[in-house]
Amino acid sequence: MKTKGALLRELNTPWKIEEIEMGDPKAHEVKIKMHAAGMCHSDHHLMTGGIPMGGFPILGGHEGAGEIIEVGEGVTDYEVGDHVVLSFIPSCGKCPSCHAGMANLCDFGAMLLQGEAVSDHTFRIHSADGENVYPMTLLGTFAPYMVVHEASVVKIEKDIPFEVAALCGCGIPTGYGSSTRSGDIRPGEDVAIVGVGGVGTAALQGAVIAGARNVFAIDPVEWKREQALKFGATKVYASVEEAAGDIAGITHGAMCRKVIVTVGEVHGADVDKWMGLTAKGGTCVLTGMGNMLESEVTLNLAMLTLLQKNLQGTIFGGANPKLDIPLLLSMYKAGKLNIADMITREYRLDQINEGYTDMLEGRNIRGVIRYTEEDW
Ligand SMILES: NC(=O)c1ccc[n+]([C@@H]2O[C@H](COP(=O)([O-])OP(=O)(O)OC[C@H]3O[C@@H](n4cnc5c(N)ncnc54)[C@H](O)[C@@H]3O)[C@@H](O)[C@H]2O)c1
Ligand SMILES: [Zn+2]
Ligand SMILES: [Zn+2]
Repeated sequence: MKTKGALLRELNTPWKIEEIEMGDPKAHEVKIKMHAAGMCHSDHHLMTGGIPMGGFPILGGHEGAGEIIEVGEGVTDYEVGDHVVLSFIPSCGKCPSCHAGMANLCDFGAMLLQGEAVSDHTFRIHSADGENVYPMTLLGTFAPYMVVHEASVVKIEKDIPFEVAALCGCGIPTGYGSSTRSGDIRPGEDVAIVGVGGVGTAALQGAVIAGARNVFAIDPVEWKREQALKFGATKVYASVEEAAGDIAGITHGAMCRKVIVTVGEVHGADVDKWMGLTAKGGTCVLTGMGNMLESEVTLNLAMLTLLQKNLQGTIFGGANPKLDIPLLLSMYKAGKLNIADMITREYRLDQINEGYTDMLEGRNIRGVIRYTEEDW
């Protein structure tokens, strides 16, 4: 079918809405009519080249929700009419990581950036000129229709608003899981969240729910700091430098048992200062990303060793999509997790560049694209 999507044709150029040809679902694939797509910072890394895909053009978007309108051969867990979240992490349910309860490390993840469908290694999406189109993390939620493998979809209850569900494809589980799973925050611990955008605000809520004593939020944008206080931060700071002395005073020099780093652009040169906020025996969780090709890190190795600190990477916050997405949405329904207030503004697909400018200029916690009759 002919539809449209937000494509990147080369680095450092705006998203362009173009006609695309969406293939039919093959075995173990489903076709989805999209209702909402979240605008995560990681799609901006596609534009800068920080996250390199297998080729161009790229169809962006890795956070979204919609309804199934067609199922391919062999699909037994889903049917037409089901509401689903598109998870940027596929979970096959069969590989060692999936069996070990670490579906965020599913073997299908090896193909996240290659653009081909995991089912048969062919391309499902083509441009009007017939070129292969590379969908972000096997998804491409910046289009009103998608054809994806069943490993990438998670069924949800039908009374959940699509825009709320959309954020559970990446930002919410990644942030919440960074605190509660990868960070394993325990009651009474002091925690710092560095960068309170979409992922960081979910991490902040995770830290509060986990029972942290103090949750220090650090962000250069004043409005973000104000929002962080509403989401439960104990104290807020504009920079790590400003925070360090005050946190040392409050914690009697112990610093933070857990530091969750959710800044938009991670640079190796900043790692040492985040480790400086981290208590002896504590853990610094690196959730934010920078340029994938960067490999230089500033890190005092003696302090890492002698103060027995941990530097922990995380993808998807260590969460299991098919377990944690429904769990997080049930917490939303129970009023325990505030997802609705994290959606600052809604956009049409053709306003996508405006949405990313708002993100970069600090005006959004999360921007969401809403699809309507005009798009379908
Ligand atoms: N590991 C994963 O699985 C995963 C998943 C999703 C997103 N990410 C990454 O997480 C990061 C955050 O994503 P997001 O969508 O929340 O982005 P965002 O742009 O919404 O939020 C980033 C926040 O960091 C703040 N910030 C920028 N520089 C800072 C600094 N030096 N100190 C403190 N705060 C600073 C910004 O003001 C902003 O509020 C991105 O790098 C994204 O690629 C990783
Ligand atoms: Zn994301
Ligand atoms: Zn798997």
